Order: sequence, then structure tokens, then C-alpha cells
Amino acid sequence: NMSEDELRSIVSRVKSEMGSRLFLPGHHYQKDEVIEFADARGDSLKLAQLSASQHEAEAIVFCGVHFMAETADILTREDQHVYLPDMRAGCSMADMANIQQTERAWAKLMELFDDTILPLTYVNSTAAIKSFVGKYGGATVTSSNAADMIKWAFDQKERILFLPDQHLGRNTAYDLGIRLEEMAVWDPIKEELIHEVPVEDVKVILWKGHCSVHENFRVTNVEQVRRDYPDMNIIVHPECSREVVELSDYAGSTNYIINQIENAPAGSSWAIGTEMNLVNRIIQEHPEQHIISLNPMMCPCLTMNRIDLPHLAWSLESLANGNPQNVIKVDPSTAIDAKKALDRMLERA
Ligand code: 13P
Ligand code: SF4
Repeated sequence: NMSEDELRSIVSRVKSEMGSRLFLPGHHYQKDEVIEFADARGDSLKLAQLSASQHEAEAIVFCGVHFMAETADILTREDQHVYLPDMRAGCSMADMANIQQTERAWAKLMELFDDTILPLTYVNSTAAIKSFVGKYGGATVTSSNAADMIKWAFDQKERILFLPDQHLGRNTAYDLGIRLEEMAVWDPIKEELIHEVPVEDVKVILWKGHCSVHENFRVTNVEQVRRDYPDMNIIVHPECSREVVELSDYAGSTNYIINQIENAPAGSSWAIGTEMNLVNRIIQEHPEQHIISLNPMMCPCLTMNRIDLPHLAWSLESLANGNPQNVIKVDPSTAIDAKKALDRMLERA
């Protein structure tokens, strides 16, 4: 049982010993005790781009969740290795679409729609799903480029299948002028398509997945803030439901949320609908603004929080000792098509 000071000195020592041979990206939802040591902080898009450009790094210790580490592995060279400080740092949304379910859904959708669908997947998905999407000509998207990628998809096919987050898919397609009735939902448990208009009029097929953190921001939270603070700006992540995004003033990725608040005039008021560590950090870094969480309960992502100072120190120590733990290695047969899906996005980002 080491003290916090001991843990911090392990992290600092390994970082200075390894220099540019080590890269430590940190997602905005990571704890302060981890973010403090990150070489770069960012949203999913920025961290994917940065990982792909770390030519000197031998080791990437990813402070984020499993799908992000997989993405970094796919985008880096064979001789570069990616590590995740705690293997339990998964993502409940990514777990909502497994490859067997997806293959079965695709077979059914091909019967209904022939070859008129292009698959897209949010990066919050397993490497196997990215590989599936890449194999059928589709691409990955993040919350910062979903609109551009959906437009790109419609240049090629009449319809899209959007995995695994129904809310990001619905919110983005709606902004592009697609009517809610034209969006169907694929339920992977019941294996059925829920649609309002005749199937031939369906344009978007949304996978029935969601984020267990962002579902905690509800219409009642928005109504409460509107009652208590009529002048407050409400800004949410597009993983929130359509109803919540509709009633909010702004919606966008974590980087977008940070930028909006940074560029707002001092003394403005904000209610933020996203993960707790980021909301707390924005509050600390912007004492000139009045900021609250849209849900007063504060909403942590439990899996992001698995990465803490003890796990980071343990991971770096294992690397320094020449016995690195928790390597994330996507098998080459999966990585090849997954990379196609990622590259189609990165070329346009
Ligand atoms: P972004 O940082 O890309 O907005 O993603 C949010 C998220 O939920 C990551 O898991
Ligand atoms: Fe997954 Fe939601 Fe956590 Fe992001 S915030 S890692 S989408 S569970």
C-alpha cells in the first residue's frame, strides 16, 4: 500500500526515464489524478489522431477505455505497443453491439433493403464491429464528425445503419434534415426492426444502444434548470436523448463543450450534461463562469474511473521493469478492415 506521493513519484520517474518513447493520452473523462500526467488530453477524435502520429513512441499507455486503446493499436505500427492500466475499463455502450448480433442484423437488413445500406459505427465500439463496418465499405464516426460522415455515407448509399448509439445517430441525422419517422430502430435482443413509415421509406437504421452515463440527463433535469435559472445556457453531449438535446441550447463532443465555455463571456451561466470528471474540471478551470451539472447528482462513468493513480503507477512500473502488463493487441485479421473504417474517417477529419 503506497502513499499518493510514492505513486506520483513512480509515474514521474518512469515518464522522465522513457521520454518520447512513452506517450500517455488522457480522455477528458479521466480523473484529475490521471489527467495531471497526460501528455495530451482530448476527445475521442483528437486522441485517435494523436495516437496515429506518435512515430517515436514505443509504448502508449492509454488513459481512457478499452475501445480507445484498441483504436490506438490499430492506428500504430506493429512495433508500437498499447497498454490499458486496468482491463476492466470497458464501455457499456460498446458492449451493446457484439459481432454475432451485428452479423445477424445485417443478414436481416440485406433481405429487407438489398444492397442499399452503408454501415457506420461510432468509435465507441469493439474492433470487431469496426472491422465489420470497414469490410462493407463504411466508416467510423466520432461525436465531432458524425454529421460529415453521415453526409459522406448518403453520397454512396440510400440508407445507413448506425451502430451502436441510437442517440448520437438520431440527433445527428435529425440535424441533417432527416425526419424522426424516417429513422427505424434495430433491436438486437428481439432481432426486429421498429419502424413507423413503410420500410422502403426508412433512411436511417439506428442500433438500439445507448450510454449509461448520458441517459441520466433527463427532460426533468432540463425543466428544473429552466425553472431555477432562466438565464442559464444548457449544453449537453449528443449521447443524450433526442428530447434532452431538443430542449438544450447546445450539443456537441467533449472538446466542443470545453470550447463553448472557454469562449463564452465571463459571468455567463452553464448547466452541462456530460460525465462528472469533465464537469468538475471545467468548474475548477473556469471560476469566472457559473457552472453546474445538468443533473445535480453528478454522473460518473464508472469504467473511465477504473483508471486511477494506483493503476497508472502499476502499469508504468511494469513497463519500466521490462515486464509490461495489459497489452491491447487487436488480432491482425480484425485490424485490417477496422483500419479501413478508421482511415475513411481520418482522411475526412
Ligand atoms: P467524445 O470525447 O469524443 O465527445 O466522446 C465522449 C465519450 O463518451 C467517450 O466515451
Ligand atoms: Fe462508454 Fe458512456 Fe462511459 Fe463514454 S461515458 S465510455 S460512452 S459508458
